[in-house]
Amino acid sequence: TLRALAPKDLEGRKVLITLGPTREQWDAVRFWSNPSSGTMGACMAMAAYLRGADVTVVAGPTALTFPCDMGVVPVRSARQMYEACTDLWPDMDMGCLTAAVADYRPVPFGETKFKKNTSAGSGITVEFETNPDILKTLGQSKREGQKLMGFAAETGNLREEAARKLETKNLDLIAANDISRAGSGFGVATNEMFVLDSKGRKEQWPQLPKTEVAWRLWDHLLLD
Ligand code: CTP
Ligand code: CA
Repeated sequence: TLRALAPKDLEGRKVLITLGPTREQWDAVRFWSNPSSGTMGACMAMAAYLRGADVTVVAGPTALTFPCDMGVVPVRSARQMYEACTDLWPDMDMGCLTAAVADYRPVPFGETKFKKNTSAGSGITVEFETNPDILKTLGQSKREGQKLMGFAAETGNLREEAARKLETKNLDLIAANDISRAGSGFGVATNEMFVLDSKGRKEQWPQLPKTEVAWRLWDHLLLD
C-alpha cells in the first residue's frame, strides 16, 4: 500500500489534528459557522498517517471520510471540540490544529424555531458569547517533548499576526495564509504559506497543493 512506501519518520507518534468548521447552534434550525471544508486538516492527517503516526482527528462537520484505522472524534460546536482536545492532549506527542473554530457562539434562542416578526422592517439583534481558544489552551499546558502546530488565517498583516499567535499560544510552529488571496484558504486545493517557528526560522512558500504543504509542515516540525 501507499502507507508502506512512505518514509516512517512519524512512526509511533501520537498526533492530534483538529479540522473543519465548528457549528454554533442558535435555534432549532439555524447555526453560526464558516466555509471551512477541512481539506488542510485532512491533508495533515493523511500525511501523518502515511508516515506512520497514530492519528486522532477531532473533526467539525465536514463531508470528509478517513481511513478506518484512523481515530476520528466527530464534534459540532467549539466547546465540544475543546472538551475532546483537552481530554486527548495529555497523551499526545504532537498537535496540529487546523480547525476554523468559531471565536463566538450566539446566545441560544432555544430548542424551538425562531418565528420571524411580521411587523415589516424590524430586524433582530443576536448576542454572542466568547468560545474557548483550543490552541492556546493546549499551548499553555504543553509539556516537555510535546510539539504544537497552529495555523493563522489573516486578511491583514500576515507576518506580524503569525509572530503574535506563535508567541501568545506557545507554539513550536505556525503556518499563516492570507485568505484574501486567490489560491489560498477556504475550500481550495492549494495554499500559500508563511511559516514561522519558535527557533526564529521564517519561510515564505509559493502556492502549493495542500497535500504538499502538509508534507512540508511535518518535515518542518521534525527539524532540530
Ligand atoms: N483556534 C483554536 N480555538 C479557537 C480559535 C482558534 O484552536 N477558539 C486555532 C485555529 O485552529 C488555528 C489558530 O488557533 O490553528 C489560529 O486561528 P485564528 O482564527 O487565525 O486566530 P485567533 O487566535 O482566533 O485570532 P483572530 O481570529 O482574531 O485572528
Ligand atoms: Ca479566530
